[in-house]
Amino acid sequence: MNYRHAFHAGGFTDVLKHAALCELLRLLTAKDKKLFVLDTHAGTGGYDLADARARRTGEAEAGIGRLETLPRAGMPGAVARYLAAVAAYDRKFGPSGGRVRHYPGSPRLIRAALRAGDRFVACELHPADALALKREFAGDRTVEVRQADGYHALKALLPPPERRGLILIDPPFEARDEFDKVLRGLRQALRRFATGCYAIWYPIKEEQATVFVEALMAFRPLVLELHLDGLEPGRLSACALAVINPPWRFEEAMHEALPWIAERLGPQVSARVLAPPASVPAPASPG
Ligand SMILES: C[S@@+](CC[C@H](N)C(=O)[O-])C[C@H]1O[C@@H](n2cnc3c(N)ncnc32)[C@H](O)[C@@H]1O
Repeated sequence: MNYRHAFHAGGFTDVLKHAALCELLRLLTAKDKKLFVLDTHAGTGGYDLADARARRTGEAEAGIGRLETLPRAGMPGAVARYLAAVAAYDRKFGPSGGRVRHYPGSPRLIRAALRAGDRFVACELHPADALALKREFAGDRTVEVRQADGYHALKALLPPPERRGLILIDPPFEARDEFDKVLRGLRQALRRFATGCYAIWYPIKEEQATVFVEALMAFRPLVLELHLDGLEPGRLSACALAVINPPWRFEEAMHEALPWIAERLGPQVSARVLAPPASVPAPASPG
């Protein structure tokens, strides 16, 4: 396990995933019914963007760094709420001179959105990150941190007794079989909990991703994509978040937010919001 999210925190991949995540949480908590959230690949609670790892890649500067200082007037609601969630986390560490220094990971964004009675399980396999996460949420009865394989949790924890759930699947994709693992995990999870809302992040970088996306279409997701042109070879230049069973109004919010974000991230950035296909063939192989 070599992947460390500290190199990528606050980059364009996080901007896409976290802006969408905040909106999903807002819409799913609008209903007066308990919600269960599972973050299968949680990372840590937050990341110091002044850390050498974040500065080495410069990804945060080209991501959240391009959005944080923009005037809120005229900003799409979903973007304003995402930036407010980031700023609220950053403020816990004291004043940082108007620039975000402490960027929240998905566990912190999720926790901030939950209400009394909601429940959140965060899985993280890396011992150091899992320990940091356990310390971060020690004593918080809403959150259970497991040093565990997130794919096992899809089997062990679904369906949740709440019958309403958001499942974030955000693997590092450093192993070549990760795409297969996601598909297998999803098939099992959907068989157990077909009505859950699933958000799956993935990199668009190679042939493998194309095969993966074709298989993913069987689940009729709404797909959100961000593309960056003109990067040096070897750097990730596109990523997506596929959302299965999105809540009402989510698609509309993303149509408004994503092109706006792309325009502010730079002239070389573009966004796509792809509606679920009308009908698709059944999944090729049951997992
Ligand atoms: C992309 S990062 C997660 C970022 C986080 N979801 C966020 O948005 O802030 C992926 C994380 O998954 C962890 N990981 C890798 N394989 C795992 C597995 N099988 N189960 C749980 N966590 C895993 C890695 O250590 C890494 O921290």
